[in-house]
Amino acid sequence: MKKKIAVLASGRGSNFQAVIDAIQDGKIPATCAALITDNPKAYAIERAKKVKIPVTVIDYASFPSREMYERALLSAMQQVNADLFVLAGYMRIVSAGIVRAFPGKMVNIHPALLPGFTGLHAQRQAINYGVKVSGCTVHFVDESLDGGPIILQHCVRVLEGDDEESLAERILHHEHECYPEAIKLFCEDRLEIVGRKVRIR
Ligand code: GRF
Repeated sequence: MKKKIAVLASGRGSNFQAVIDAIQDGKIPATCAALITDNPKAYAIERAKKVKIPVTVIDYASFPSREMYERALLSAMQQVNADLFVLAGYMRIVSAGIVRAFPGKMVNIHPALLPGFTGLHAQRQAINYGVKVSGCTVHFVDESLDGGPIILQHCVRVLEGDDEESLAERILHHEHECYPEAIKLFCEDRLEIVGRKVRIR
């Protein structure tokens, strides 16, 4: 049976696009039931509209406090009732309350090989550190920052002369393969969380 997924995105939404393309091509046995965004200007909204995916905008700036924003977000997520929530460039830390409401049902993509270079500007961190290999990681979301059980990783070489932008672009290309691949595994019920590891069946 097809899974129901929902995507949370804050910006351009190229990973969201890669996921919906893979669904449309029949590569992921799922339907995308919603795009939820905290940013009314996110380009991801245009992408959703093009393929008639319902959009819920929960404009962070319009809430008097973070708690009230989180409450509205939680309620929108409960309403969608997805099998999987896909964070695709969702630029806020997901609160512990939301993580606990959807255990094992939320994934994220990070533009570095975790556990290295967590948080913002991972590609810049990689360039500044001088690593020779970086990449991207898809992981389940837990209460730690970018620290949940790892599902898949792709390696990307850091080339002589790379800067943050050129590395980010090369990593992004891999993200667009890695994320649909990981979501496909989830939707085929092939992922099992064992302790802090993910077993792929
Ligand atoms: C990606 O690099 C992703 O790894 C990070 O945010 C960026 C989102 O890009 N979490 P896009 O909005 O999917 O194009």
